[in-house]
Amino acid sequence: MRFVVVGLAGALALGSFGSSVLAQGNAEDGEAVFRRCLTCHKVGPDAKNAVGPVLNGVIGRQAGTVPEFSYSPLNKAAGENGLVWTEELIFEYLADPAPFLKKFLASKGKEDLATGTTRMVFKLADETDRRDVIAYLKTFSPAK
Ligand code: HEC
Repeated sequence: MRFVVVGLAGALALGSFGSSVLAQGNAEDGEAVFRRCLTCHKVGPDAKNAVGPVLNGVIGRQAGTVPEFSYSPLNKAAGENGLVWTEELIFEYLADPAPFLKKFLASKGKEDLATGTTRMVFKLADETDRRDVIAYLKTFSPAK
């Protein structure tokens, strides 16, 4: 736990997104955590975009690129400037999405695009919940 936190802080301080290693969560517990995301996101074979984009295949996907989903300019800009969702980055993002996206854009020298906010208004503070929900999402994200 401590190791992960220190690793993430180090990665942010260096502005090198995605360089830390995330401890593995529990996918079964993550399914229960995902109930909180279900209000807005679907996963699985029949999943469709809802309030939020479908999350099948999200790990390894460029941010802001689900077809036919209308993203906020902030989320879209992060993707266009190189944000690709890894487990580590989703872990950071879920704690507080808007500042994460702004920090990412700033790390790319795109402070001018780091404005407005994201429509992902949900925050998941608990680290175990975040790791578990990511492990659950991973079961819908075939390794590339
Ligand atoms: C209140 C609705 C809501 C809830 C609850 C919610 N989200 Fe979201 N989420 C959104 C919306 C809307 C977007 C698109 C944001 C934008 O365009 O700014 C989004 C975007 C995302 C993205 C980025 C997708 C992309 O293609 O770039 C991820 C990852 C994500 N959400 C994961 C989660 C997870 C995991 C949970 C549960 C722990 C969750 N969200 C809970 C509404 C929600």
